[in-house]
Amino acid sequence: MNKIITVINAVIILAILAGVGYLFAGGYNIAAAEKHWDITFKAIQTVRNQSIAAHSEDLEKPLPTDVGGYISHFHDSCRTCHGAPGVSPAEFAEGLYPKPPTLHKTETQKHWSDGEIVWIIANGIKMTAMPAFGPSHGVSEIHGLAGFVRKLPNMDEAAYRQLAASHGLSMETGGHQHGEDDGHHDALSESQSDAPPEGFLDELETGESGNGHSHE
Ligand code: HEC
Repeated sequence: MNKIITVINAVIILAILAGVGYLFAGGYNIAAAEKHWDITFKAIQTVRNQSIAAHSEDLEKPLPTDVGGYISHFHDSCRTCHGAPGVSPAEFAEGLYPKPPTLHKTETQKHWSDGEIVWIIANGIKMTAMPAFGPSHGVSEIHGLAGFVRKLPNMDEAAYRQLAASHGLSMETGGHQHGEDDGHHDALSESQSDAPPEGFLDELETGESGNGHSHE
């Protein structure tokens, strides 16, 4: 019996040492272009959801409703990653992992309470591209932004454009052209588990430059 326990202990210790060795030898690929396993992604999401729910408990209070003016802030600071009705995110958002969700979809927002949205905007989400706006913005601004986010699913492209125009905002996304229209700005609607463009990493290793946008 004692022998069996000794063997099991030895196997466990060896497995731990192999795991640590793998990590220190650089075996884990930290690339944003390399997706998590589904199970890892789901585990991270669960930890995130539970954490946000627990930390935002005291933040539930009615959000301001007269928030049209926050479009300027949203358009400059949030649209670049999240897009807006009829407006693409900036090109770099295509390469973020996890992908910034499309906030103007009811589907995206229904999961979150008002307090959770406030918390997310104020604190950001670790190990994702979602920044904390709390360090640079006042409480009323954070609430205004949260209120504006809540209005987005009810805004169509025309309503967003009209509001943006009345605040002197440009609808240009500022992206540069790659000489082809391959629809890559639609990337946010693609699923989280999409692989990076095939052959892209090989090209990087060999130094041969393709156009970098070989989705098809
Ligand atoms: C540099 C990119 C970036 C910018 C800028 C940014 N976000 Fe995000 N945001 C993200 C990413 C990435 C996520 C998803 C994080 C995750 O999967 O846990 C996210 C998540 C969120 C969520 C949670 C929605 C969800 O379902 O995950 C809200 C709400 C949000 N952002 C609001 C905002 C607002 C409001 C602004 C502007 C004040 C903003 N974000 C600016 C990248 C960004």
